[in-house]
Parts: sequence; C-alpha cells; structure tokens
Amino acid sequence: MRIAFELNGKPVDLEIEPRETLAEVLRERCRLTGVKLSCESQVCGTCTVLVNALPVSSCTYLAYEVRGQRVTSIEGLADEAGQLHPLQQAFLDHFAFQCGFCTPGMILAAKALLDEKSEPTDEEIVQHMDGNLCRCTGYLPILKAIRQASIALKGPRD
Ligand code: FES
Ligand code: FES
Repeated sequence: MRIAFELNGKPVDLEIEPRETLAEVLRERCRLTGVKLSCESQVCGTCTVLVNALPVSSCTYLAYEVRGQRVTSIEGLADEAGQLHPLQQAFLDHFAFQCGFCTPGMILAAKALLDEKSEPTDEEIVQHMDGNLCRCTGYLPILKAIRQASIALKGPRD
C-alpha cells in the first residue's frame, strides 16, 4: 500500500506492507536509525517518536496509521543550521546518557511534555517519563537535563 505523510518537516511518499510498523519503516525504508528498537512490545520507550507532537511507541504502531500525519524522529530536532534543540544540548550538558540507546526516545518523550507544559514540576517530569527506561545512566541526570531544557525553552529560542 502507498502512504504519504510528513517526516521531520518534509513530505514522504512510500510503498509499504500493511503489516509494517512505523519503526521498521523509519529505520529500514527512511534510513532513520536514530529510531531504536529494544523490547518491541511497548514497554521500554526506546522507539518513541512523535506523531502530531504526541509520543508513540513506533515498535507497535502500524506505519499506515501515519497517513496524512506529522512524524518527528530525533533526526528532525536540530534546526536547519545544525543547532541542537535545547533538550539535546541539555542532555549533553548533564551527561544524561552513557550508551545512548534510550536517548532518542527519552528526548522525544520529553519534547512532548515540554511542548504541552513549559514548566513541569519534577514530579510531573518523572510521571511523564515513566514509560521510558534507561539501563545505564541513572535517572537523575535525565531529570536535570529536562529541567534545564524547560528553562532554556522559555528564552528567545523557540
Ligand atoms: S522498543 Fe518500542 S517500547 Fe520498547
Ligand atoms: S543511556 Fe544506555 S540505556 Fe539509557
């Protein structure tokens, strides 16, 4: 079947199998390998991408469901000049990753939160990030990074 959607601000038109997941299409057909796969059963959050600014587990989300929708992966977060999104910068500043495998999903989940609520409390951040698991960093640097980004996003840059 043929699907058309917007991917990281650009139109995409693809032939896919109806059974293909969004993660498979993004990784294998669009070559966006920032989309990571781990549990493949909607448990770990590693495969999180945004569909119309809302986080979804792309490992279980059928790709045809994004027809006509807006999809954002980690590759779409930096601006056209290559300047990192404040969340990406904050994760670097706080060393909020070790192996980095969970990081794209973490950043996109956090973006969905900050897009909806510019000044979440620590409790709200923890609650929102509950579905994103990290095996090696520890969650405190991640919390600090999201807090820093929320402050940065209130500044002149969008
Ligand atoms: S790989 Fe999708 S939730 Fe774990
Ligand atoms: S940085 Fe390794 S799993 Fe999170």
